[in-house]
Amino acid sequence: MYIPRKYQVVITFFQGDLTAHKINKMNIYKLGVCYRGIQMERFTLPEGFLLGTATAGLQIEGGDKNNTWYKWCEEGYIKDGSHCITACDHWNRVEQDTELLKQLNVNTHRLSLEWSRIEPKAGEFSKEAIKHYRNEIKLLLKNGIKPLVTLHHFSEPLWFHEMGGWHKAGNFSYFIKYVGYVVEQLGDLVCEWVTFNEPNVYIKFGYFFGIWPPGIRKLTYSLKVYSEIIKAHLNAYEVIHNIRQIMGFKGETKVGFAMHIRVFYGVTFMGKLLARMADYFFHELYMEGMVKGKIKIPLSKNGRTYCKDTYVDFLGINYYTRNIVEFTLNPSKLFHYLRSDDRLDKNDLGWDIYPYGIYSICKKYYKLYKLPIYITENGISDKRDTKRPDFICSHLGNIAKAIEEGIDIRGYYHWTLMDNFEWLEGESANFGLFHCNFNNQERTIRRGGKLYSMICKEKKLTDEMIEEFLKT
Ligand code: BGC
Repeated sequence: MYIPRKYQVVITFFQGDLTAHKINKMNIYKLGVCYRGIQMERFTLPEGFLLGTATAGLQIEGGDKNNTWYKWCEEGYIKDGSHCITACDHWNRVEQDTELLKQLNVNTHRLSLEWSRIEPKAGEFSKEAIKHYRNEIKLLLKNGIKPLVTLHHFSEPLWFHEMGGWHKAGNFSYFIKYVGYVVEQLGDLVCEWVTFNEPNVYIKFGYFFGIWPPGIRKLTYSLKVYSEIIKAHLNAYEVIHNIRQIMGFKGETKVGFAMHIRVFYGVTFMGKLLARMADYFFHELYMEGMVKGKIKIPLSKNGRTYCKDTYVDFLGINYYTRNIVEFTLNPSKLFHYLRSDDRLDKNDLGWDIYPYGIYSICKKYYKLYKLPIYITENGISDKRDTKRPDFICSHLGNIAKAIEEGIDIRGYYHWTLMDNFEWLEGESANFGLFHCNFNNQERTIRRGGKLYSMICKEKKLTDEMIEEFLKT
């Protein structure tokens, strides 16, 4: 049922309950409330804006036994017992899946390469794997879809860990060799690169909580890995630029990393203080290190100073949610924990839906670094697809508003093309614009996918789309 604007209701943050409120543009954006079907405003994105999808090799390809996540699945850590060996069988279905991208009318796609396939043994590169990725990328280009290629998206070759992994100083040079090889082989087709996906999530889960591979629970190790990955990024940045230049590859080289950014929100005095601390350790250390080459306390420089001014050509931001930060006496949790806000709508995994956050963080990081922004991921786990249309529009609406205010946002990559292997959640989280039936590998477009394909085509949200998809 459509409710006329003047009778509409929003949830306010400040009263903690449902409050009758006249809706207007200001309070929608301020509160960032996602309330089904009633608050959506038309928006238009700039000509040339990049609208696409994002995927990660391990989460969709299937079939590779040589990586850390394969071992993690074998050891039985996945909540629903599923296994990344199956995933979406994308390795054998590249053509079919490119058709899905065409159906969505995207003009760009972010994909990741599986290091363990490209370099199955240290120093031995697989021509076959590179040929496969070349064909995949060529197919995208043939269909007018610009690739953005991620070099490291959580998974790694098993041999890399047998040789000590990231916590062994100097091991970053293995990654650099792999990057060099890939850019030589694919750099004529790809101008835009993401070195690391969410280094902060990778380190937090893999080295601090130990719930992801390599399963280490040591603060001292996590700090070593921070430094090593920052170093790897700074070096990879230069290697990618140099190789593309020396080999005379066409197109402007752009290199960045995709940073998972949350809004940390403190309610109490301690909460505010801890939110600032969480922001420092989870965001600032990485951003300053990887964007500016500034190695801040408590990280170690290992005697090296980085003298360039900037080590990215764009800021890659993955945005999903906001957390309230609270105090706890537990030192192993660094005296804080994160909770959700009862007053906000949730995705299937219980994450708060907070569209205003995408606006506020773009504003914050643009002010800090004055660099073009790509939203390298944003999406919702929503099996029934009842919230996805609103989610997409409320986030894109906030992006359009930020652009109107002069924030240089160049692109948006929706996470994700189809339901995939969602790390610890296995097959049970559903972020796809297409539903994927893992038994027979059938892909079916969701309503959210249909709406996204229309937005990608028109670069705007129209009254007709609101009428068809967003009114309850
Ligand atoms: C990761 C993706 C993941 C998504 C949804 C991001 O943190 O980059 O690999 O699937 O979130 O959880």
